[in-house]
Formats: sequence, C-alpha cells, structure tokens
Amino acid sequence: MHYPQGETAVAVLRRGPIIPVLTVHNVEDAVALGRALRAGGLKVLEITLRTPAALHALAALAKEFPDTMIGAGTVVRPDQINSACAAGAAFLVSPGMTPLLTEAARRCPVPFLPGAATVSEMLALQERGFRALKFFPAEPAGGAKFLASVSGPLPDLLFCPTGGIDARKAPHYLALANVACVGGSWMAPQELIAAQDYARIEQLAREASALGQIP
Ligand code: 3PG
Repeated sequence: MHYPQGETAVAVLRRGPIIPVLTVHNVEDAVALGRALRAGGLKVLEITLRTPAALHALAALAKEFPDTMIGAGTVVRPDQINSACAAGAAFLVSPGMTPLLTEAARRCPVPFLPGAATVSEMLALQERGFRALKFFPAEPAGGAKFLASVSGPLPDLLFCPTGGIDARKAPHYLALANVACVGGSWMAPQELIAAQDYARIEQLAREASALGQIP
C-alpha cells in the first residue's frame, strides 16, 4: 500500500520512546523547558496549539534546538498547518480527523500524525494512507488492552498513545508491537512549569527516557 505520508511519520514515532506534550503559556518558559527535557534525554517535543504563546514557543524552541524534533499538537483546523509549519514545526499532531483536515494533511510539508480512538476511525485513516496514528485519548478510550486487540485486525498501523498516561502506565503501551512511542504531559505538568522547577522536570524527563530502555 502506498502511504502519502511515506515512512516519515513512522520515523518520527520511532525517535521516541516518549514524546512530551507541552502546553506553554509564557514564551519565556519555552527554552528553559526545552533545555530541561533535552537534558533529561527526550529528543522529540510536541507543543500544543492551545495557548496564544504556542506558536512563539514553537519558533523559539525550533531556533534554539535545531537538532531536536519540535512538533505542533492539537492541530484541529487546516489553517493551523500553515502557521505551525511557518513557525518551524517538524511534525504535526491532531487529536482526531475530519474530511477537511484529511484533505489539508495531504498537502502538509511535514509528517502529519492524525488522531483516532476507535477501530472504525483507524480503519478510515488507513484507507486514506496513514500508517502512523495518535491513539487519543488513550486511557479513557480503552488503554493498552484496546491497542493490543487492534493489532490483530490492523497489523500495519503504528501508534503513539496519548491521553491520561503516566510513568507507571507507559511501559504497558511500550511493550506492545504496534506502539512506537508514548505521548504525555506527566514530565512537564503545569504546576512545575509555573514554578519554573526545571530540575524536577529534567528528573521526570530522565525517568521517562529510561522507560524506553526496558526490554
Ligand atoms: C494531548 O493533547 O495529547 C493530551 O492533552 C496529553 O495528554 P495528558 O495531558 O493526559 O498526558
């Protein structure tokens, strides 16, 4: 099967094993946050487009850390594809897909990771040529057991489960053959960002990075 997104979205996932999902309210926090996460061993970061500061934070991170993959998350409208790419996003993530977004994603210059929560949504995305998907919201939608069940009928799909996952739950997903990485905000929660507790964020990032090294 020909996948219009090629293998590049798969390659993004394989750079994991953990993608921190960051919601940044102050652009001033972004670089220090990125530095802490990188120092903790995380090589791929996702900035959610949920705050007025998000695109500026993305641009600041992309400029400061050219060797790190900085993506944009919470892409819910086609126009966000252009603005995120202009800000330097190396990949895009959506929590779900619509016909409009699917059409726009075909013209996206960087890997696009669409979200799905049900077998029918996953099947529809596979029909449209997507192979690498975000499974969202992972925990409420059925968790690791759900994804394990999906690998039988949909063996070609590779997932980044995200939503409600923490350091304790992540290994259950990472043990699955159809999971390349796990996304989550647990290593950079709002209270630690607000407190500028970058030492603690770095420590949580280091623990998160180590999860992928479990055989
Ligand atoms: C997302 O947008 O992917 C989620 O908000 C991240 O999920 P979490 O905050 O439950 O980890």
